[in-house]
Amino acid sequence: MSNPVTPARRGLDGVVAAQTRLSHVDGQAGELIIGGFELKNLAGHVSFEEAAWLLWHGSLPGKAELDGMRREIAGQRGLPESTLRVVQDAVKAPPIDALRMACATLSLDVANPDDISPAADAQDAMMLMARFPTIVAVHTRLAMGQKPIAPRSDLGLAANFLYMVSGREPDPIAARALDTYWVTVIDHGMNASTFTARVIASTRSDMVSAVTGAIGALKGPLHGGAPGPVLDMLKEIRTAENAEPWLRRELAEGRRLMGFGHRVYKVRDPRAEVLSHVAEEMGRAHLEDRQLFDLARHVEQTALRVLDDVKPGRNLRTNVEFYTALVLQSLGLQPRTFVAMFACGRVAGWCAHVIEQHAEDHLIRPQSEYIGPRGLTVERRAG
Ligand code: ACO
Repeated sequence: MSNPVTPARRGLDGVVAAQTRLSHVDGQAGELIIGGFELKNLAGHVSFEEAAWLLWHGSLPGKAELDGMRREIAGQRGLPESTLRVVQDAVKAPPIDALRMACATLSLDVANPDDISPAADAQDAMMLMARFPTIVAVHTRLAMGQKPIAPRSDLGLAANFLYMVSGREPDPIAARALDTYWVTVIDHGMNASTFTARVIASTRSDMVSAVTGAIGALKGPLHGGAPGPVLDMLKEIRTAENAEPWLRRELAEGRRLMGFGHRVYKVRDPRAEVLSHVAEEMGRAHLEDRQLFDLARHVEQTALRVLDDVKPGRNLRTNVEFYTALVLQSLGLQPRTFVAMFACGRVAGWCAHVIEQHAEDHLIRPQSEYIGPRGLTVERRAG
């Protein structure tokens, strides 16, 4: 007798695919818990490094642990030759594709890439978290026709990234904004890229393979690829008066409004709340950012009203990507880099899930519902 099969749920909507201690998304209450903390008690209160440690070890680090972690990350920031060559060859590719290709090469620098023991996973996680921002910074410089800048070991990950892109001493407000952004996106339940990483890890495949696959899942516009188009939208809208006709036209032509809607959240994404404050703070420093922030606030309110009108009952609310676009552009980054910046934060969460999945050691293997024909036969053709 064959296994009983439950009917397919489109897009696995509502299906619980794993138990996790890492994060929990309550889409009705608009709550995100990361390692036991509500996001609003974590983002802006701990550094990205501390949040990663929390996910990997189950509690926030003590001073000695954090210092040790910072030293190790600083020591691993440089790129191996083979990785650097791929980043150079991929100079014209979108940064997220360059990151995916470069990430795959990192297993060349691991003593035993097939080792999935907790000790090997912990080392790989640290190495990936250290090198992702370097890869994106080097690619950004090369794409602008500039020479890469060597990492500095005296700076945290966020400040060092900004230094490697601009070559200037990083503005502490900007470094804090990026750090808060990375904490905000560090983990988010069973999203598509995390699920991808867990599926790969569940086959007893290694950390670098799982994270490389996750990057592929993240880049699509329905997942991490939305903030670039959000900025395009704001730039096209330009003025508050244009907002409503522009948004209605988009919807009438069957297009989606980027930065709105979510599979799980039916209220405002709590990450949008955190990042709107970060964007506002950045806007206080620069007039251009403030004008864009004011426009974004107006577009958000108008879009929510228009979506309720045109798509009633769907509860389409602001998601994380809307204010991500503002935060990242205020750091001087180009929209094409945005999804790679997301990956630099989420990599810590992917690694935590790979560690958890390796400990679980159970293959993820759903079934499909066959809807094709049956009973066909091959007729031999003469000649
Ligand atoms: N703009 C307009 N309509 C929308 C939007 C949107 N942003 N999102 C959903 N809808 C509509 C759909 O057209 C559909 O309408 P219908 O019932 O008339 O056919 C209905 O709402 C339900 O849409 P689904 O695609 O079934 O909803 P799902 O839960 O699969 O979508 C998703 C979630 C993919 C995020 C969607 O809201 C979307 O495409 N948003 C825009 C892209 C975006 O912002 N992505 C970033 C997500 S956050 C992240 O992944 C980090």
